Amino acid sequence: MSEWQKAAWRNKARVQMPDYTDAAALGAVEAQLSNYPPLVFAGEARRLKQHLAAAGRGEAFLLQGGDCAESFEQFSADAIRDTFKVMLQMAMVLTYGAKVPVVKVGRMAGQFAKPRSAPTETVDGVELPSYRGDIINDLGFTEGSRIPDPKRMLQAYTQAAATLNLLRAFSTGGYADVNQVHAWTLGFTEGEKAQSYREMANRITDTLDFMRAAGVNNDASHALHSVEFYTSHEGLLLEYEEALTRLDSTSGKWLAGSGHMLWIGDRTRQPDGAHVEFCRGVLNPIGLKCGPTTTAEDLKVLMAKLNPDNEEGRLTLIARFGAGKVAEHLPRLVKAVQEEGANVTWVCDPMHGNTVKSSTGYKTRPFESVLREVQDFFAVHSSEGTIPGGVHFEMTGQDVTECTGGVRAVTDENLSDRYHTACDPRLNASQSLELAFLVAKELSELRSQQNRKAEAG
Ligand code: PEP
Ligand code: CO
Repeated sequence: MSEWQKAAWRNKARVQMPDYTDAAALGAVEAQLSNYPPLVFAGEARRLKQHLAAAGRGEAFLLQGGDCAESFEQFSADAIRDTFKVMLQMAMVLTYGAKVPVVKVGRMAGQFAKPRSAPTETVDGVELPSYRGDIINDLGFTEGSRIPDPKRMLQAYTQAAATLNLLRAFSTGGYADVNQVHAWTLGFTEGEKAQSYREMANRITDTLDFMRAAGVNNDASHALHSVEFYTSHEGLLLEYEEALTRLDSTSGKWLAGSGHMLWIGDRTRQPDGAHVEFCRGVLNPIGLKCGPTTTAEDLKVLMAKLNPDNEEGRLTLIARFGAGKVAEHLPRLVKAVQEEGANVTWVCDPMHGNTVKSSTGYKTRPFESVLREVQDFFAVHSSEGTIPGGVHFEMTGQDVTECTGGVRAVTDENLSDRYHTACDPRLNASQSLELAFLVAKELSELRSQQNRKAEAG
């Protein structure tokens, strides 16, 4: 194969990307971004790849989460802090359940571009181009708002840089201390309906007390007071991605400098399309969404293109079929992976196959469906003898009302209270943490199962 070029995607079929009308304005933005510093460094992307490789082997577990679409308007330090905080809480509960390190990856600092199921949207008889994320156009329902503006890429870059800066500060500045994180979680389990989670929370308390007594959990143990936190987004807007791609002098390979991990969406994974062409050439770990329309043949071609050297940690397959549909679709893909002897990390996205319209007209997702899809995913891996490597959620640390259900139940009628998402409905802080407890339970059952097998064998 001839050497990869960062602009080669331009010769491939282009889907889900805007047609900018002002070529000069676009060129100026691309030139400017090409001169800006990358947001992440190659060594970090490589390190994340090693963690994902461990998740693929069952020696770690991935927690990937954040907004469906980051927003310019809702950008604030509090929002970043709250999502970071709830992810740390979830990670701690999951670590307890899985008994392996949890790899934390935000859908943050770059998750701005959105694929859409329809090119236009009609409200009260008025038809306008769809909103495609703040990096492309504006959510406002006016003709002017929906015109793609390349300058928005510069604002997205600035916001991503500021977000990442704060995340890096939180990760090492004492905010991530385990005792602190656990104290927040105890607050959640004090709620009357969250009682069922208190038992596990108490066991975590005991463990921390023991570690403190044994002198493990003290100021000298850096691992308990700081975390590694990575960023990811869908690599959708390729003009932006290309402009931030840099040659890594250590390895002579190309790095997508916009975030640690990029994924290819359910609508843009055409084996001969632009997105696969771009992603195949960068050294970052790559995610690939797998949906009901993914065939075993396509998956084989995609694995060969995206991971020709069969490198562990390079490719994460993010299954998103919908509750009740996992058993119909996942086994054929698991078999395709096995037939190829491919190294992949299997992750469950229980959000994108479970979007429904509420009785009150809101796009929502029932908590029970989200949980059920995760359980289905675990069940298939258990019967196929393969490894569930992680979970991928649309979530926020804010107290929004976008998904229904959970112990602090959100009903169809509540959805209008704090429905703030710019795109898909997110789990709120309480729903996210509750889900972590339930996934931790699945993980701990899986572990006991494996231990029983090992003893019997
Ligand atoms: C997303 O992750 O926000 C998304 C659009 O997912 P998918 O491509 O799986 O529909
Ligand atoms: Co989404």
